[in-house]
Amino acid sequence: MSRILITGANGFIGSFLVEEALRQNHEVYAGVRSSSNLQYLDVDRTHILRLDLSDREKLKQEWKKLDIPAFDYVIHNAGATQVVEPSDFDRINNQYTQNLLESLVEAKFAPKKFILMSSLAAMGPGNAKSMLPIEPSDQPAPITHYGRSKLRVEEYLKKQQEVPYLIFRPTAVYGPRDKDFLSLFKAIQKHIEPYISSPKQQLSFIYVKDLARLLIQSTGSSVSNGSFFVSDGETYTCRQLSKISKKALGKWTFPLVIPRPLLKCIALLSEKAAQARSKTSLLNSDKYKELTSMNWACNSQETLEAFKFIPQYDLETGIASSIQWYRKNKQL
Ligand SMILES: NC(=O)c1ccc[n+]([C@@H]2O[C@H](COP(=O)([O-])OP(=O)(O)OC[C@H]3O[C@@H](n4cnc5c(N)ncnc54)[C@H](OP(=O)(O)O)[C@@H]3O)[C@@H](O)[C@H]2O)c1
Repeated sequence: MSRILITGANGFIGSFLVEEALRQNHEVYAGVRSSSNLQYLDVDRTHILRLDLSDREKLKQEWKKLDIPAFDYVIHNAGATQVVEPSDFDRINNQYTQNLLESLVEAKFAPKKFILMSSLAAMGPGNAKSMLPIEPSDQPAPITHYGRSKLRVEEYLKKQQEVPYLIFRPTAVYGPRDKDFLSLFKAIQKHIEPYISSPKQQLSFIYVKDLARLLIQSTGSSVSNGSFFVSDGETYTCRQLSKISKKALGKWTFPLVIPRPLLKCIALLSEKAAQARSKTSLLNSDKYKELTSMNWACNSQETLEAFKFIPQYDLETGIASSIQWYRKNKQL
């Protein structure tokens, strides 16, 4: 049994990381904010730590208050995927990670491994002409503020010499409790099959329970100081995603092609309107760039081999089980 700190423990991915760590009998320290909603956390079986990642000194005090020598592993999963101002990405995804790691080192609480939840967005999309999958050896070229903040924090982690690290770069993550895919399923439920990019757009996916299993498994692995893509090993087209979703929902649909200029306008307007109310918006200029990039296929063979990881869900089984969960929880 190891002591594992998981930050962002209450969120979509974080809550599954906690469940998997508990399933593998680890002692879990769930790092959350004072404002976080804990509905998906088993508060009786986890140590809830209310952390302020913006304040390195306060973090050091938190570690000193704990009656343990140190965490064995830290999975730093907390991160912003939507923000009010683009500069917030760097503050939250990059600066807060530095605060966390440095507070642990300064308080002599350094873990055996620091595992960072980065993103495929740190690499940016693959070549839209050759449509070859993004390779781990490719030069990173993120196209969004979010992706650039993830790349900067990766670079920071690689430069520091205090703590062994692992960086995971998941592609689009889906599963129960997620809100992004739910919008697509809701549209299909209403017989609308939305297309933003070409139906031939290439995509990759990872089911949240597989991602959680890989990360918890990676704590005990001898692999360290590397970056790893995470997908289920397959490439899908946008058309396949719709087809699989329609089948799982049992719905016929009308295709609705949203013209790019219209989508761009809507994205910009909703971003500005949200900013004026100091709110975040699901559709924004970063999201527009991601949605309209043609190639998000990635080669995750190295990851599968390094961690002897066999994904248990492909898109068809993953979507079917997600839809079952949404229905059971009256979200669809
Ligand atoms: N979902 C995907 O497809 C995907 C793909 C690749 C990588 N990722 C990465 O996976 C991680 C988890 O994402 P998710 O999809 O599970 O999103 P999520 O449900 O929004 O969870 C994000 C978590 O981070 C916390 N967080 C956000 N802003 C914070 C801040 N300023 N200070 C402290 N904690 C903060 C949230 O706390 P509150 O609940 O209190 O806001 C929440 O616990 C992120 O690092 C994200 O970049 C996600």
